[in-house]
Amino acid sequence: MEISYHGHSVVKMKTDTHTILIDPFITGNELCDLNPDTVEADVILLTHGHNDHVGDTVEIAKRNDALVVALNELAVYLGSKGLKTHPMNIGGKYDFDFGRVKYTHAFHGSSYEEEDGTFVYTGMPGGILLTIDDKTIYHVGDTSLFSDLKMIGEMNNIDLAFVPIGDNFTMGPEDALIAADWINAKIVVPVHYNTFPVIKQDPDDFAAKVKTGEGKAMKVGEVLKL
Ligand code: NI
Ligand code: MN
Repeated sequence: MEISYHGHSVVKMKTDTHTILIDPFITGNELCDLNPDTVEADVILLTHGHNDHVGDTVEIAKRNDALVVALNELAVYLGSKGLKTHPMNIGGKYDFDFGRVKYTHAFHGSSYEEEDGTFVYTGMPGGILLTIDDKTIYHVGDTSLFSDLKMIGEMNNIDLAFVPIGDNFTMGPEDALIAADWINAKIVVPVHYNTFPVIKQDPDDFAAKVKTGEGKAMKVGEVLKL
């Protein structure tokens, strides 16, 4: 499969049969090279309800008739907007036609802010373990460092991990290096940085310091074959 990075936490995967988007925050994400009016998706996976992760989900899902997979409260909320959704919850896995999704926990918040400023509670935040054709990708989502990452690394043979390094809202580079050791992935890609001034980081410096697995700072639009 082909995996590409599109700024912030946006990841796109093209398998033989499906195009999968994770956290498609495009409008308002100046680092993103995708066009919300033309991007293709069969499936959208969401880590949590914050606007910088839900992003353009509603418009993209409606235009593509895509399935949106999210934690229960967020899935129910997006279902109320007319989207085709599959609700899950922390610790549960499900075998979809595009692959297996299992949600892990994440230490963070989860709410969605409507255009009029109303806040909608969207349940727990999570991380996503996605297994396709014997390859496992772990999108850690927005989280602090937490010691169960070690357990997740021991329980899963992770090929590729997307780890936030921005600091302020999530773990910063120092904690993300510890997370990388615990997750024990073959390739570690930093995400959730440089989108806003408070999360300015040097991804190449982080990647060079990764000790467990290969640190790889993907450029926006760069494609990795797995
Ligand atoms: Ni968040
Ligand atoms: Mn975020």
